[in-house]
Amino acid sequence: MKIVFGKLALPKKGALVLGVQENRSMLPMTMLMDTAMGGGLKNAMASSRFTGKAHQTLMVFGPTGRIVLYGVGNGDGIDSLWSEKAGGAIVAALASSGESEVSILFEGYGGTGKGTELRAAHFGYGALLRSYRFDLYRTTLKDEDKPSLSKINVLVDGHLKARKNFMELNAVAEGIFLTRDLVSEPPNVLFPESFAKRLQGLKADGLKVEVLGEREMGKLGMGALLGVGQGSSRESKMVVMEWNGGKKGDKPIAFVGKGVCFDTGGISLKQAGGMEDMKWDMGGSAVVAGLMKALAGRKAKVNAVGIVGLVENMPDGNAQRPGDVVTSMSGQTIEIINTDAEGRLVLADALWYTLKRYKPKIMIDLATLTGAMLVALGQINCGYFANDDVLADRMAEAGRAVGEGVWRMPLGDDYNKMMDSDIADMKNAGPRYGGSITAACFLERFVEKCPWSHMDIAGVTWSSKDAPTVPKGGTGWGVRMLNQMVKKHYEG
Ligand code: BES
Ligand code: MN
Ligand code: ZN
Repeated sequence: MKIVFGKLALPKKGALVLGVQENRSMLPMTMLMDTAMGGGLKNAMASSRFTGKAHQTLMVFGPTGRIVLYGVGNGDGIDSLWSEKAGGAIVAALASSGESEVSILFEGYGGTGKGTELRAAHFGYGALLRSYRFDLYRTTLKDEDKPSLSKINVLVDGHLKARKNFMELNAVAEGIFLTRDLVSEPPNVLFPESFAKRLQGLKADGLKVEVLGEREMGKLGMGALLGVGQGSSRESKMVVMEWNGGKKGDKPIAFVGKGVCFDTGGISLKQAGGMEDMKWDMGGSAVVAGLMKALAGRKAKVNAVGIVGLVENMPDGNAQRPGDVVTSMSGQTIEIINTDAEGRLVLADALWYTLKRYKPKIMIDLATLTGAMLVALGQINCGYFANDDVLADRMAEAGRAVGEGVWRMPLGDDYNKMMDSDIADMKNAGPRYGGSITAACFLERFVEKCPWSHMDIAGVTWSSKDAPTVPKGGTGWGVRMLNQMVKKHYEG
């Protein structure tokens, strides 16, 4: 989708989006068009239920194509998020309408003046985010089933400033699209080695990228991660991505991702129904990759590292068994109770490696870690854990700012000791109750005193229905929120 910014004026071609306030009160450009149409818009409103309430729409046919009358209410609460939602709604309404181009007459909507350009940029951003599709493997898709809309003109006073604001958002969108692409790819295409190869491509964005194979990880003593990949014919990998946009010598902030390219459960095999979903068990690492791309794309003034542990969890003659004891890079030993609790094993070594190599300011891991998180919070909020209140508050604030909900969950000794083992330092699976919490306590054993947060994104990585700025499928959830937090607190 092409998003273009231009001067506020009625264009001569394409579809139009025109704002209407409450009680069918038309904004100036809308009025102009209504006059040109001999009162056609007023009549259309009068014979419909459209009153101009926020986010209401009415589709009318005008001289140059469809006209979407868009309700802006009384102007209250019109901020960046409102504008993104509106942009997304416009794309949803016109994507497959037959229109190829639409112009949005952005007359401030929430009042003109300061902030208009920023809201206009967010309007374009929301439209762009909603336009995402993953059609790579749909070879028989007919033309009439493909989206027609390919260009969006956001017409606004101060369009140059709006465009400038948009460029930064566009970089974030490109990160989100990378994340969505990665989680959408099928597991026969995206496996540790091919995933690592794709991440090598991020060198073109200005990132440093390093790939460790099983030999290197073996030397480092990553017995926990390697144990998971042991039953797979694909080689496990770890990818280290660095963005050095901050001051030289400044300690980085670190993001660590679970990258289980397919999770069968291993010998503790999952049931067949829905197992195909486990292709997106690498969602955490996809967010890390997308975030790193976004930071590089907008030249963020920060030093950041992204580290992903890439494995495939398969049952096989050489697979790890329940009862096995593995030694992690930290030296701590782990009794395997359930080979389906594999994500934490991958993260144990990835976190420790990150901690020791970079001594980061903060460390945040993302993982589709537990089904219990879906039970707890559904698909609305991501549950997160933190050993540091300042970090926890920053995350909540960032989530609110971009509309990605996060909800803090508890850690604590009473949970933590549920992961003690009789034969080793810990076990990889505890009781069913509190499963997301004990998983987080397991991870906490690998971060020492570093301010750290674990985000269990099991519920928010994939969506089965469209949302205003997130089409169904891979959501890219987390890129926006973490980008926001970096921008607000860790740059400069
Ligand atoms: N990848 C799964 C968690 C998951 C389930 C993510 C459903 C998204 C949707 C994880 O590896 C897993 O299997 N966890 C187990 C842990 C248990 C064996 C302690 C679970 O949640 O059942
Ligand atoms: Mn599993
Ligand atoms: Zn898993």
